[in-house]
Amino acid sequence: METVVSGIRPTGNLHLGNYFGALRNFISMQNEHNCYFFIADYHSLTTHPTPADLNGNVRQILVEYLAAGLDPEKATLYVQSDVPEVAELYLFLNMNAYIGELERCTSFKDKIRQQPENVNAGLLTYPTLMAADILIHRATKVPVGKDQEQHLEMTRTFGNRFNRLYNVEYFPEPQAFNFGNELVKIPGLNGSGKMGKSEGEGNAIYFADEPEAIRKKVMKAVTDAGPTEPNQAKPEAIQNIFQLMKVVSAPETFSFFDQQYNACSIRYGDMKKQLAQDMINYTEPFRERIKAISSDEDFLLKVRKMGKEKAQENAARTIREIRKIIGF
Ligand code: TYM
Repeated sequence: METVVSGIRPTGNLHLGNYFGALRNFISMQNEHNCYFFIADYHSLTTHPTPADLNGNVRQILVEYLAAGLDPEKATLYVQSDVPEVAELYLFLNMNAYIGELERCTSFKDKIRQQPENVNAGLLTYPTLMAADILIHRATKVPVGKDQEQHLEMTRTFGNRFNRLYNVEYFPEPQAFNFGNELVKIPGLNGSGKMGKSEGEGNAIYFADEPEAIRKKVMKAVTDAGPTEPNQAKPEAIQNIFQLMKVVSAPETFSFFDQQYNACSIRYGDMKKQLAQDMINYTEPFRERIKAISSDEDFLLKVRKMGKEKAQENAARTIREIRKIIGF
């Protein structure tokens, strides 16, 4: 049995990228492994320092975790800030993380570009906080999308460095995980490489979206004038739509439009209509459950309390042992 840890930031509703990159794995892994899934609210402050409704955002992700099929009896579902032991481990790891390696991190360089007015120390040390999330439970598997690969690499570096410095074999090496295959990157609808909450209007399809909203976004997706030669390579925006179809539509639907593309007879309008319908069907059960769970305040409070207790018990043990190892 593996110990599994992963989290999602509460900076917006969950979208199909989160689902196919991470959440879908959470749901299948909870049946076989010792799982800890959390809501990364400390992390959200690195980009959203003054959220209008932090508690509401956290609650929404918890609702969506449950609606997607996470079972609080099987996996430990908790909120990062409910387990402040994480912050203590973050402090220890920061002592042995070097400025140079943190500055070289791709996500840090991206953020400097995206928010030049707020290049805070939390952004620089984002990877050590993420390492603390993972190492606090001494996890071995971390289900994440492709964009988190480098953070996992850094987590291994920090864990191994700790072991070396204190001459212990305390932290195992955590590996990024996706159903035993490659990590995935789900594309967005506006031609940008990645589906994400900060990638512009209309780029992401959310589980909480109403069918009409999904239809509108998909119909507006970027396409081109169409292929002019048989079996021509697909430009990026077209590849994106096909990739989305691959994840939500039936294999026959995908091959049908792929053949039409290759024969230069494709009509993107028809393809998008089909894609929108398949996305609506795919997300339908989630939408229903989101509404039901969201109105059950008692259940949500119970889940949150239970998760906090279970996660904190394990985290406190790690902190006790780490303090001893360091010599406090
Ligand atoms: P976040 O909140 O940006 O995204 C949550 C998860 O969804 C995945 N994801 C995607 N996967 C494929 N295609 C996409 N378009 C796409 N968009 C998002 C992300 O890869 C991620 O797995 N740093 C993390 C949160 C975190 C964490 C952790 C994860 C904090 N501590 C410890 C694992 C372990 C993040 O910002 O994810």
